[in-house]
Amino acid sequence: MPIYFNEETKAFKLDSSKSSYVFNIIEGNIIQHIYYGSKIAKSDISYFAVAEKHGGVCPIPSFVTKQYYSADVNKSEYSCCGTGDFRTNALQIRTIKGNITTDIRYVSHKIYKGKPQIPALPSTYADDNEATTLELICLDSYSGAEVTLFYTVYENQPIITRHAKIRNMSSERFTIERAFSSCVDIDDTGFDLVHLWGKWAKECNFERREPIHGIQTIASKRGCSSHMHNPFVALVSKDATETVGQAYGFSFVYSGNFAADIEKDNNDCIRLIMGINPVDFSWTLDADEEFYTPEVVMAYSDCGIGEMSRAYHKLYRNNLCRGEWKQKNRPVLVNNWEATYFKFDEIKLYDIAKEAAELGVEMFIMDDGWFGKRDNDKSSLGDWFVNEKKLQGGLAPLVDKINALGLKFGIWFEPEMISPISELYEAHPDWCIHITGREKTKSRNQLVLDMSRKEVRDYLFDVMSAVLDSANIEYIKWDFNRPLTEIGNDILLPERQKELPHRYMLGLYELLERLIKAYPHVLLEGCASGGGRFDPAMLYYSPQIWTSDDTDAIERIGIQFGTSIVYPASSMGAHVSAVPNHQAGRITSLKTRGDIAMSGVFGYELDLCKFTDEEKEIVKKQIIDYKKYAGTVLYGDLYRIITPAESKDKAAWIYVSPDKKEAVLTYVVIRTTIYMLHIVKFQGLDPMRNYCIEQTGETFRGDVLMNVGYKFPKRFNDYETVVFHLTSID
Ligand code: GLA
Repeated sequence: MPIYFNEETKAFKLDSSKSSYVFNIIEGNIIQHIYYGSKIAKSDISYFAVAEKHGGVCPIPSFVTKQYYSADVNKSEYSCCGTGDFRTNALQIRTIKGNITTDIRYVSHKIYKGKPQIPALPSTYADDNEATTLELICLDSYSGAEVTLFYTVYENQPIITRHAKIRNMSSERFTIERAFSSCVDIDDTGFDLVHLWGKWAKECNFERREPIHGIQTIASKRGCSSHMHNPFVALVSKDATETVGQAYGFSFVYSGNFAADIEKDNNDCIRLIMGINPVDFSWTLDADEEFYTPEVVMAYSDCGIGEMSRAYHKLYRNNLCRGEWKQKNRPVLVNNWEATYFKFDEIKLYDIAKEAAELGVEMFIMDDGWFGKRDNDKSSLGDWFVNEKKLQGGLAPLVDKINALGLKFGIWFEPEMISPISELYEAHPDWCIHITGREKTKSRNQLVLDMSRKEVRDYLFDVMSAVLDSANIEYIKWDFNRPLTEIGNDILLPERQKELPHRYMLGLYELLERLIKAYPHVLLEGCASGGGRFDPAMLYYSPQIWTSDDTDAIERIGIQFGTSIVYPASSMGAHVSAVPNHQAGRITSLKTRGDIAMSGVFGYELDLCKFTDEEKEIVKKQIIDYKKYAGTVLYGDLYRIITPAESKDKAAWIYVSPDKKEAVLTYVVIRTTIYMLHIVKFQGLDPMRNYCIEQTGETFRGDVLMNVGYKFPKRFNDYETVVFHLTSID
């Protein structure tokens, strides 16, 4: 049984494939966390929870008879406030009387097979035979808040998911001021904090450092998960590398404001809470109303950071992404953005598509600029009807012609936005998020639509459906290019204004759900100026996301490496673009650009008509190769061999198919030096199998490649890459 309750000791033990998670109910029905880490057989480890450290100064509740408990020092399962736990708290409720002391106690629990959906929110899913769920029902008797803590354990994966439900059981309203999704207290036996920070066109930089005493927060309050901080943190043991040591990952299934507080206290215990950022959040519940937090996915590895990543990749591919594309190889695409920007007409688009068809590309994407009067980024967002000046004859004839070339057709939308210069703004100036009387801050000349409003969502559904119904459109790139500012509207009551950022997300998710239900065959690619909303919640709707607006092959090594800490290759859009690269100005060979882009969902984003004959031959071969590798890259296991976190000079990684019969290795020299060693020790192969390297014709046993390594018998230039495709010959 993956979830076990010991009646006698009142201890719960949750066993995933690799981890155990233990807490118990103590005097006063307090829920006390005990242990999270490598799997253990025994459940009675309550000896470990005795708080011997609180001395005389800690608050002791009056019900305590055995002087071992103080909220000040004991580990909490879901930390509250006002009764002696002064650390960062997961839950805070302001009652109608204005006080915020919150204190939940265990009431009852349920254990059942399977995993419930979280109403109105994206989350991972599971069959009854894959997972078991514990609902821990608790009560704050003063406020009447019933808090249900949900824990789902994946039996064959090192995964536990958590979320909470808060229900108002009293007759008076109260306001939730903080409602985090998870709380873990863990003794700091020597941990580093890992997180992924970034900026536009440089997302997911891997950072690792020792937590300091006090609170450090990884967060976003931009109204989106953001380029700046991915909604992910990990605690890794000091000795952890890609292949050894402990890694505890926390990944938040949410696309809006989030926070992860990591507090190391005076007793060297680390509290890690993750959830909706309380800075611009509150939620008022009337009698009988309830509120659900989004989900946190906790992954545990005792074999290094690499194994944690592979656990996330597997879960997110199989138990988060949905729809018919979730396990399919994706069409090789060409996108016209970096080829034409806003300057195109149907003739130019067709020319690119024609060339694309000859090279073996499978889908053509028409990016920004096809609608309203949009010739630059100053106008027309919201006017989702075809600009017939640019596309004479409308969409259908163009799509038909492109389909006739054998290519699918895809289209760009930025549904959540409105340009002040647009017909939509003229008709509905109040539809944007705004505070009446305050200046509206623009970003990229645009404002944000209020997705909490049903009429806005209905408009978007209708106008997008009209486009999708007008031609054979098989792909949507769903963009989002600015953060939220002046958050307010004239509809919500003043005391509910801080609900708006979360109501926005609920509205966005509802619209996405409606669209994917209505158009189940359409492949959705998320985007937010590249990776500004690269999060698990978006993956629930769009199985792939445009990883970064930086398409430079060398920059992409770091960006894709950082993104791969949590997200699978099947989720990462990666395109070959022109040189000098439009963002970094760097010149790399077509081979290098292709080799790096092949570690994701592959495509081109440049004017294919400008290729020389020689380049066209390279592209044809790249597409054939990618189609051969795609199954292994997108759905295989990733082993990061030489990472940008360790080496600035080179990088190597390998994807191995689940049956270990196939593998794709990429080796890059970023900066060459004299007599540089070019030895790569493979990982993840079957030691007993013999593998043939397609590119060299050589054959090696897996154990040799992994232990002795492969030695490249050549000198490398800067930015030179090698891709090896290995197949088992046994
Ligand atoms: C964002 C996207 C780009 C492109 C442009 C169009 O920046 O990330 O890929 O679609 O918008 O305006």
